[in-house]
Amino acid sequence: MFIVLVAYFLLLVADATVVLDVNTTVGESTVLPCFLKTPTLTDLKNLRFYWQDEGKCVLYSFNEGKEMPEHVNELYRDRITAFQQDMIRGNISVKVKNITLKDNQKVFHIFAAVFDSEGIRRYILEHRKICQITLHVAVPYKNVSLTVNKETMTAVCTTQRGFPEPLVKWRLSDKSQHLLDLRDVHTTAVQDPKDQLYSFCSTIDIHGGRSVTCLIHNPTLNVTLIATHVLNKGEAERSLPGWAFGLVVAAAVLKA
Ligand SMILES: *[C@@H]1O[C@H](CO)[C@@H](O)[C@H](O)[C@H]1NC(C)=O
Ligand SMILES: *[C@@H]1O[C@H](CO)[C@@H](O)[C@H](O)[C@H]1NC(C)=O
Ligand SMILES: *[C@@H]1O[C@H](CO)[C@@H](O)[C@H](O)[C@H]1NC(C)=O
Ligand SMILES: *[C@@H]1O[C@H](CO)[C@@H](O)[C@H](O)[C@H]1NC(C)=O
Ligand SMILES: *[C@@H]1O[C@H](CO)[C@@H](O)[C@H](O)[C@H]1NC(C)=O
Repeated sequence: MFIVLVAYFLLLVADATVVLDVNTTVGESTVLPCFLKTPTLTDLKNLRFYWQDEGKCVLYSFNEGKEMPEHVNELYRDRITAFQQDMIRGNISVKVKNITLKDNQKVFHIFAAVFDSEGIRRYILEHRKICQITLHVAVPYKNVSLTVNKETMTAVCTTQRGFPEPLVKWRLSDKSQHLLDLRDVHTTAVQDPKDQLYSFCSTIDIHGGRSVTCLIHNPTLNVTLIATHVLNKGEAERSLPGWAFGLVVAAAVLKA
């Protein structure tokens, strides 16, 4: 019983498709990694594999030692290279160049089969799905601008032309740092219909703060841009809430 269970478990493991996310930037080239765990590959003539996207468009096809460019879809023509010198070790990764936002959220499926070298073709590895890769494409936000309006005691944080939509966090500090209640924050993100890029603007009320910090996070690149504005003395006093003035006066009265 135990042995049967173990054997079944190994079969499951051997069959498992490796599922992976790859994050990259527009305009770059990126390697999409995939490995065949078979120690028995002795000749590329025994290897067959192909990459296709979720719409079954082929990116790359390799059969019996040869690339098959005629199978490659228009979308991927001249953009994909594989590494023949690494294939014998089971490395069936490809490199995609000139990444655009059209490639964002594509899901690639990689199928492979390995044959026996002798006479009658016999599978050593049956045709099956080896890897599944989801591609996330970003455009970095280059800078963030933070401006303070002293009349209305509001701060405005803006950033332009990035992807995907950024996440914003504000920090307003008096003596004790605190993160802002989201109800005090007004945020708008506008997407350019032509190139899908976002421009972003967020406003908060800064009454009561001594310094204000805006954090803009690109979730795909895992990069955060930070801008800080320290309110000068005049601004800070004006930004004290009404009850604080009351306390100062009360303290002075008690002392006298
Ligand atoms: C697989 O091949 C690619 C291309 O040469 C290389 O970038 C990658 O590091 C290789 N991976 C391993 C684990 O050998
Ligand atoms: C990359 O793609 C863009 C848009 O598809 C195209 O205009 C540009 O010429 C391409 N660049 C290269 C180096 O292939
Ligand atoms: C972003 O930074 C560059 C260089 O630092 C500057 O020239 C540009 O005006 C800035 N853009 C904005 C919107 O702040
Ligand atoms: C990759 O991008 C996705 C989508 O934005 C995000 O959920 C994920 O956390 C990113 N992964 C890394 C390692 O930054
Ligand atoms: C994002 O980067 C931080 C360090 O800067 C790291 O701790 C965190 O795990 C990363 N998030 C993801 C999703 O990779």
